[in-house]
Amino acid sequence: MKKLIAGTFTCLGLFVLSPFVSAGGDAQAGEKLVAVCAACHGSDGNSPSSAFPKLAGLGENYIYKQLKAIANKDPKKPTRSIVEMTGMLDGMSDDDLRNIAAFYASKNIQLAGAKEIEVKLNSGVVLSPKESLALGEKIYRAGNAETGVAACTACHAPNGAGNAPAAYPRLGGQYAEYIQKQLEAFQAGERTNDDAAVMRDIAGKMHASEIAAVANYIAGLTD
Ligand code: HEC
Ligand code: HEC
Repeated sequence: MKKLIAGTFTCLGLFVLSPFVSAGGDAQAGEKLVAVCAACHGSDGNSPSSAFPKLAGLGENYIYKQLKAIANKDPKKPTRSIVEMTGMLDGMSDDDLRNIAAFYASKNIQLAGAKEIEVKLNSGVVLSPKESLALGEKIYRAGNAETGVAACTACHAPNGAGNAPAAYPRLGGQYAEYIQKQLEAFQAGERTNDDAAVMRDIAGKMHASEIAAVANYIAGLTD
């Protein structure tokens, strides 16, 4: 009788745990699939050039969501076309994409680092590197109440680590060039796979100076 009860509990335990276990990919299996990605994204997801985004530590659900959109050929589903990656995900199963996402999510991002840049405001005033960084920090932490830009911290976390379960990507440490390019793509409506147009809406309200300043700030953001 005792054995029977123990058995029942074990079964219940597995039943309760299984949704979480099956949601996660297998990072080791993923590692076997990413040799082709290394040239651009680095062997551990820390890409060697700012022309390519770092994937290390971005969050499994986010990476998986992007891979689905990049691989997608159904016009009714969210799509993200990346010419450099044409055909690269063809023939990969859903599990393969999950496993790749788990692999990169398990790696640590190496901070790109903020640079000493000058940002030019609409008025023509040029901000010093220190003022530019302060503007980036202000946008990141408080947004812009006047124009309705939401604070980035709300979803991407005060330390830039994002919210992995919610598929809000890590931003902290990413190349400024890539962050800026994405904000411009959301603003122009060229990147459209964000659910409920959340980033198209936010980026649509940002000035070019705010984009440049917050992108540089994010590159140096860490815990
Ligand atoms: C020839 C270069 C190249 C190769 C090889 C490549 N990528 Fe990419 N990848 C890119 C570029 C460029 C972007 C960003 C495009 C943009 O600006 O939106 C990107 C973006 C991504 C993103 C989205 C990142 C984010 O932060 O949203 C993921 C995920 C990704 N690649 C995964 C992969 C995987 C997995 C492979 C291998 C199967 C791969 N890439 C191979 C060039 C490459
Ligand atoms: C309400 C939540 C929310 C807020 C606030 C928010 N974001 Fe996002 N952001 C998201 C989500 C969700 C995504 C992923 C979209 C997708 O699935 O493609 C994202 C994606 C991004 C990306 C693309 C990252 C990549 O790796 O390609 C950038 C860059 C970005 N956000 C910058 C910002 C900045 C800068 C701010 C503040 C001005 C901000 N976000 C505020 C939710 C938010």
